[in-house]
Amino acid sequence: MKIICQSESKHAAALVTGATSGIGREIARLLRSRGYDLIITGRDEDELMRLSAELGHGHTTAVSADLSSEKECFELYKAVRSYPVMILVNSAGFGVYGEFSEVSLRKELDMINVDIRAVHILMKLFLRDFIKRDRGYILNVSSAAAFMPGPFMSGYYASKSYVLRQSEAVSEELRRRRSRVSISILCPGPVRTDFNRRAGVSSGFKGITAQKAAKAGVNGMFAHRLVIVPGAGMRLVTALSGMLPVRLVTAVNYSVQAMKKRNQ
Ligand SMILES: NC(=O)c1ccc[n+]([C@@H]2O[C@H](COP(=O)([O-])OP(=O)(O)OC[C@H]3O[C@@H](n4cnc5c(N)ncnc54)[C@H](OP(=O)(O)O)[C@@H]3O)[C@@H](O)[C@H]2O)c1
Repeated sequence: MKIICQSESKHAAALVTGATSGIGREIARLLRSRGYDLIITGRDEDELMRLSAELGHGHTTAVSADLSSEKECFELYKAVRSYPVMILVNSAGFGVYGEFSEVSLRKELDMINVDIRAVHILMKLFLRDFIKRDRGYILNVSSAAAFMPGPFMSGYYASKSYVLRQSEAVSEELRRRRSRVSISILCPGPVRTDFNRRAGVSSGFKGITAQKAAKAGVNGMFAHRLVIVPGAGMRLVTALSGMLPVRLVTAVNYSVQAMKKRNQ
């Protein structure tokens, strides 16, 4: 973990993981345009520098951290604890493509560390602070994948399900204790970002823009919506996948995922 640049500002701040690319970067831009100071994180130090200049050095703290490391998750929390963080956005994440028996175990364990463990750790640490202050928003970026099994990306789909189900359960605990802390889960279908390249595949699905996904997430979060699925078509897909027999949903998804092409 390394602090790349630090703002002196003590205004309400939003911590955005995965801010160096795609959905996280667009969420950071939107929150800045709403007046929040930002703590942006990712591993790409050049992009963290560039983005903090774009968002305004006086309003942005940039921290490079590898969230596949449990130690760096705790270090990140400690480094930003003195800021009045009132929004946590967990957007960092990636997928690994291939049949379960064939894909690299190391890559999958890193994915589980980023997509599940880091989200779990950061959510718990910040939630405790938010509960003490009785205010705060958490936006966890899951996926439409959370609603169904995903052959060829079995670990990724399951990891997004973990984030969805845990966030829903914690949200109910907060509701029962009449907390004003709010949890939302953003569950987009395909989004045009670096995601497929990092997963090592090309897909025929065009997907929505990262701006559209981010806008749905930020608006939904401030409206205290629990589950946010951008786009009517994708809302239909996620609703149907809960109603149809799971074996049918899995078989259809096998065919959809099998159409993706592995990049060389
Ligand atoms: N694109 C889609 O189709 C889609 C659909 C549904 C859900 N999602 C979810 O949306 C979230 C954002 O993905 P995206 O589409 O915006 O993809 P992206 O453009 O590839 O961005 C991924 C972000 O995660 C960060 N990240 C990856 N590994 C990391 C690590 N070990 N430590 C710290 N940061 C790490 C990357 O930062 P660095 O490279 O700087 O570390 C980058 O900022 C993910 O959780 C993804 O699962 C994506």
